[in-house]
Amino acid sequence: MNQAKRRTVIAGNWKMNMTPSQTTALINEMKTTLPAEPACDVVLCVPFVDIAAAKAAAEGSVIKVGAENVHFEEKGAYTGEISAQMLTECGVEYVIVGHSERRQYFGETDDTVNLRLLAGVKAGLTVILCVGELLGEREKGITAEIVSLQTKVALRNIDADMLKKVIIAYEPVWAIGTGLTATSDQAEEVCSIIRGVLAEKYGDDAAQGVTIQYGGSMNAGNAAELLSKENVDGGLIGGASLKAADFAKIVEASNQ
Ligand code: PGA
Repeated sequence: MNQAKRRTVIAGNWKMNMTPSQTTALINEMKTTLPAEPACDVVLCVPFVDIAAAKAAAEGSVIKVGAENVHFEEKGAYTGEISAQMLTECGVEYVIVGHSERRQYFGETDDTVNLRLLAGVKAGLTVILCVGELLGEREKGITAEIVSLQTKVALRNIDADMLKKVIIAYEPVWAIGTGLTATSDQAEEVCSIIRGVLAEKYGDDAAQGVTIQYGGSMNAGNAAELLSKENVDGGLIGGASLKAADFAKIVEASNQ
């Protein structure tokens, strides 16, 4: 993490967990456990129906609220989908796109991820773009190729100015929810490959300004080591973001 050049961002991804009342209770608890002046930005990406409760509970605290997905059309006959404008009007500031669970279970492709990213950025949201290889891809030695391709396609039609609203989360799929964490060297290696892809397209200065997170079983015990790496500028946290004490420890680790 290199704070001189870029923001460190610790973001929770609640996935399909927490009702609105549970949201209120957990955020109220987090307000007592989180540091008053963290060295990083603190974000919770929550289910759509929890956004109002999260905004209300987070008011006056360091916590910013994000969503877990966004549709690419402005409006229309897309039953079950949520537009960027709906999110911004609810006070949402961040949104995740391209999470591996969306790719795996809901048929999202690099192309739809690109469209969702574009829609989010155009609406003024900060978009957390998830990329990462499957275990089989790592075993075949094609991690760099897979992650580079995902990054390039997702950033199609994103210019250098729009890039300022993009965070990239490197999430090896084999590490998500499995308790298997990439080593800090593995995380650093791939985050630096991603920065190289950005440098090729946008130049070195712009690439140095982009926050690149690691995600995949990051927890209170391993966060400090992962965050100590030059190109790891934060975390996207699933399971550990549902526990106030653990999430606070990860935020504290960014201070070190
Ligand atoms: P995990 O999830 O921390 O539970 O592995 C991370 C994520 O899916 O973003």
